[in-house]
Amino acid sequence: MLEGKKVLLAVSGSIAAYKTAFFVRLLVKAGAEVKVVMTNSAKEFITPLTLATLSKNPVYSSFTSNDQGEWNSHVELGLWADIMVIAPLTANTLSKMANGACDNLLTAVYLSARCPVMVCPAMDLDMYQHPSTLKNLDTISGYGNLIIEAEHGELASGLVGDGRMAEPEHIIQKLESFFSKKESFRGKKVMITSGPTYESIDPVRFIGNHSSGKMGKAIALELAARGATIDFITGPSVNLPEHTNISIIPILSANEMLIEAKKHFENTDIAVFAAAVADYRPETIAENKIKKKDEQLNIALVPNPDIAKEMGQIKSNQFTVGFALETDQEDINAQKKLENKNFDMIVLNSLRNEGAGFAHDTNKVSIFDKHNNRHDFELKTKSQVATDLVDLIEKALHD
Ligand code: C5P
Repeated sequence: MLEGKKVLLAVSGSIAAYKTAFFVRLLVKAGAEVKVVMTNSAKEFITPLTLATLSKNPVYSSFTSNDQGEWNSHVELGLWADIMVIAPLTANTLSKMANGACDNLLTAVYLSARCPVMVCPAMDLDMYQHPSTLKNLDTISGYGNLIIEAEHGELASGLVGDGRMAEPEHIIQKLESFFSKKESFRGKKVMITSGPTYESIDPVRFIGNHSSGKMGKAIALELAARGATIDFITGPSVNLPEHTNISIIPILSANEMLIEAKKHFENTDIAVFAAAVADYRPETIAENKIKKKDEQLNIALVPNPDIAKEMGQIKSNQFTVGFALETDQEDINAQKKLENKNFDMIVLNSLRNEGAGFAHDTNKVSIFDKHNNRHDFELKTKSQVATDLVDLIEKALHD
């Protein structure tokens, strides 16, 4: 699977850098061509000579490589690679990547690379859990970078927890599955609804909900990574997927979402309804800001259109996927929704499960399809849930 693939390994300064010797050996054994860039601090942990010998290529760590001032082009390195793997990724290099800082060859190559980028963080457990690290990982995931999460175990500090760089064999597996899946959705058009809707009460107020849009974003990035082209219709959210294959279509209310869904659904192969659409909207929107008074204020609400249901009624060959967030009789309600909205597949997440639901980065789901198949999954990150869901969609389309 990795035969002939050009892998650019970027090593930053962490004790886990010692594992890259073994990683390079595995890559070469699998038939990949390997070039290595490293930061100066990475050289404290593993020598360029070791990596040059194993990769059979010179190792680059600065913009010039000898006394004659020969230029190491960061642009050429980035264009050469089929994939750039940053392993180990330190908190420092991560922070530079998230912010566009460019003070060494590794970050310059990162900024100019056109190929996909996979990162393998390695940190002590508290660093790995720090809000700034989580924010930076979220930011680069929004750039479309693939994150191979750190593994659990004993850390160099002696502490035990999450933070160990993924084992080289595991990174190889991720690379193999990345290259095997890469083209699987090429030519497919996908429509995704995501985020909350805001239903105006007056010019300054609205009825909304806590949907973060994280699940829709993860699904969009997963499908885009596999070659699909995506119309991403989203309510107000800070979680927007950035990828050249994704067009963002911002809307505010359910009615606006319906207009956009109708425009795009006809030419869609797959539609994923991940939006938390408000069920009701105020009957009228006050022209001016409603003044505070002492008496009770009643706002008459009318039902919103059910976007997924309407698309289900007009669908021809589209493969449609819905979501159900249930608090009781979860399975029965999810199956009913599957039929009622004419979905091919429905993802159930129960609010009873800790770590599942709106604002969390994790989700625990069961996925049902219209042929009565059921798949139960463990609590996972939303990007892993997206991988599981997209794997099932891919399988269903091929069956
Ligand atoms: O009926 P309920 O809101 O639980 O259905 C959830 C599913 O239907 C989700 O896939 C959601 O995106 C979609 N939906 C919709 N328009 C609505 C309500 C829900 O597209 N008005």
